[in-house]
Amino acid sequence: MRVGVLTGGGDCPGLNAVIRAVVRKGVATHGFEFVGYRDGWKGPLEGDTMQLGIQECRGILPRGGTILGSSRTNPFKIDGGVERIKDNLASNGVDALIAIGGEDTLGVATKLADLGVHVVGVPKTIDNDLSGTDFTFGFDTAVNIATEAIDRLHTTAESHHRVLVVEVMGRHAGWIALHAGIAGGASAVLIPEQPFDIEALCEHVETRFKTKYAPIIVVSEGAVPQESDGEHGMTMVSGEKDAFGHVRLGGIGDRLASEIEHRTGKEARAVVLGHVQRGGTPTAFDRWLATRFGLQAVDAVADGDWGTMMALRGTKIIRVPLAEGTAELKLVSPEEYAEAQVFFG
Ligand code: F6P
Repeated sequence: MRVGVLTGGGDCPGLNAVIRAVVRKGVATHGFEFVGYRDGWKGPLEGDTMQLGIQECRGILPRGGTILGSSRTNPFKIDGGVERIKDNLASNGVDALIAIGGEDTLGVATKLADLGVHVVGVPKTIDNDLSGTDFTFGFDTAVNIATEAIDRLHTTAESHHRVLVVEVMGRHAGWIALHAGIAGGASAVLIPEQPFDIEALCEHVETRFKTKYAPIIVVSEGAVPQESDGEHGMTMVSGEKDAFGHVRLGGIGDRLASEIEHRTGKEARAVVLGHVQRGGTPTAFDRWLATRFGLQAVDAVADGDWGTMMALRGTKIIRVPLAEGTAELKLVSPEEYAEAQVFFG
């Protein structure tokens, strides 16, 4: 059997570990041949292939990113896209596809599986917001990077008696903020699932200074203030000068730092971790999870178990229907958030 492999969506540490496991086991155990598709769904859409064998997979286990490249191309948004994919798979002699991706990439895989394409999915995202699996690889690495940043920011915040606002990724789900905030001993964590109260946050900042601790506030990029207080609860707007005369631009981290300065008169700085969280070598946990997903995915191909997604449940890797695995976003529950509040006094 000839199997195509692609990685779609935002890259994530551990993608190469999946590719390596798929190819190594596929060749050794099942006698498969592989073809790499470049840049997510763009690859099969344009018939853009690359050689993918044992040799191409040497030394890639600890490497971040993806040797196949990635994109956010969605063939269902392109006229005739699905037909082009089917034609290219046929002309490339590809019998089955392993799609490694997040919500969007696996959403495409789900629809293609419904149309009869032989596809299995492997979930990835640093955001850990796919409902079908306990964890996605990439998340642990991102949390470790954010935790190390928070550790470092504690000392500089203390030295200068400043507020440090750390913006982490997470448009819809606050998993990175919550886990890194707990692990790094942040004084407050703000997540998209729970609009925050800017007044209460500023009171918290003042209390922290009274007890001689500089506040470290971790905020997800998708966190929003409650709408009850003024214009979205924030008086500062992007581009306005803050209490120290600095012009503030940018996302929620920067806006929040301005707003805190404005309201409390305490100096604040924002650090936006951005794509640093997605780059570089995966942690041991992410390599372990990615490898196990890859091994199971190639077995699913051998079994002809089309339309399935690999999932971690407890310590076991199981297969779930793709549609179920990507059905909804896994969000931080009020209980999980409340648990963390104990430390954020
Ligand atoms: O990988 C998911 C994610 O990291 C989100 O948390 C973030 O909002 C987004 O990707 C950023 O994507 P891009 O690389 O397109 O800027």
